[in-house]
Amino acid sequence: MRAITIVLFFLLLATGDIALSASPRTNYLLYCSGCHLPSGIGNPPNVPTLHDELGRMMTAEEMRSYLVRVPGSSQTPLSDAELADVVNWVLYEFNAGTLPEDFRPISAEEVAASRGTILADPLKYRIRYWKDYDF
Ligand code: HEC
Repeated sequence: MRAITIVLFFLLLATGDIALSASPRTNYLLYCSGCHLPSGIGNPPNVPTLHDELGRMMTAEEMRSYLVRVPGSSQTPLSDAELADVVNWVLYEFNAGTLPEDFRPISAEEVAASRGTILADPLKYRIRYWKDYDF
């Protein structure tokens, strides 16, 4: 009897979770689009576009963590798993044409390991491991 209660408890918990958590698209709209705009084009040069270049960047290992260490990502109230989902959504939605074929989605573990080390100077890191903006 106790085992059944425990199983039911976890089932309820899991269902509740599904009902409460928002989709990556909704989280993008809630937590990123205020600056990057719903279409992801941003407002260069003040706010960069999230189209195309991020996909190319994924050929450089150091740039995987960059995506979640920029202040806008790092400091969002989203959980590590939700932030991983949002960043992967941005990559597949806005960068489908430029993502390398062997791209592995960013994992919640990678986000947990790196988001705490916020980039004080994102541009410096971007230039060091990738390149300057193109606009
Ligand atoms: C308050 C405005 C703001 C919000 C909110 C914001 N960003 Fe940003 N984002 C910026 C700015 C400005 C930059 C340029 C780097 C910097 O100065 O932080 C940037 C840079 C980036 C970059 C690097 C782009 C490049 O080409 O180098 C990524 C990726 C990114 N943001 C993702 C996100 C995601 C994902 C969210 C939501 C979880 C988010 N941002 C929320 C303003 C914002």
